[in-house]
Amino acid sequence: MAKKKSVLDLYDMKAKGEKACWMTAYDAPTAGLAEQTGLDMLLVGDSVGMCIYGFKGTNEMTMPIMIAHTAAVRRAAANTFVVGDMPFLSYQISDEEAVRNAGAFIAQGGADAVKLEGGRRVTSRIRAISDAGMAVFGHIGLTPQSSGQLGGFKAQGLTAESAHDMIADAEAVQEAGAMFLLVEAVAPEVTQLVRERLTIPVYGIGAGPHTDGELVIVSDLLGIFEAFTPKFVKKYANLADDIRGAFEAYCAEVRGGAFPGPEHVYNMRAGELDKLRAELAEREHF
Ligand code: KIV
Repeated sequence: MAKKKSVLDLYDMKAKGEKACWMTAYDAPTAGLAEQTGLDMLLVGDSVGMCIYGFKGTNEMTMPIMIAHTAAVRRAAANTFVVGDMPFLSYQISDEEAVRNAGAFIAQGGADAVKLEGGRRVTSRIRAISDAGMAVFGHIGLTPQSSGQLGGFKAQGLTAESAHDMIADAEAVQEAGAMFLLVEAVAPEVTQLVRERLTIPVYGIGAGPHTDGELVIVSDLLGIFEAFTPKFVKKYANLADDIRGAFEAYCAEVRGGAFPGPEHVYNMRAGELDKLRAELAEREHF
């Protein structure tokens, strides 16, 4: 089993030009499988709201939900760097609440780091969490928690003006003490400009190839999220079809009597049925 990565290992990978490979995980079985394949990091993303709970966005997620999923992932992936995703309103209100909630991800969820969305407007939160001794991932570009302001889940950095904002946000996030930056759904030219200006690792999701590593939403990768498919998604499996096929086969076998078969039952011990029948016959005789 590969050794668990530390922040220093992740910096070392950047220095060597090795790309980090990470994905979201929300549950223990998936996290366990991911760890067996040697992924570098897992993000317990608030995308769990869409991928598991069936919401249209992520803002319904709360600290107790996120901590429960983070702890499940940690239990199954003890040797993987885990990032906890701070949910809506867990850091927007004050520096103090941000530190307390970030600390809960580490102490209760077992996370190694936390991620929070936003650029210049969250620098004081990043500074506070970082000053409390926790590793912070910034997240700019398409920030789902503010999709209401962005006008939906829309690609960012498509104009020079938007690119200026993106660069200013990235520089501010690094300056505030974030150790890593995630750039989501941003034009690759802009990601490149951002990365050239920062010293911290810059990871992407839908942000092109000029990054220090790639994040993917596990439900997209596996082909089980069918509500919509962003342009940047590549499906490496189509488990939705496999799952539907399994459900259909199960129902057909139950209806046709093929399942459960003799190999799926717990029979009485030898002689016990005869004994029972005799006892029942005797009781019924009197
Ligand atoms: O919640 C999440 O999975 C995320 C990614 C979309 C970046 O924040």
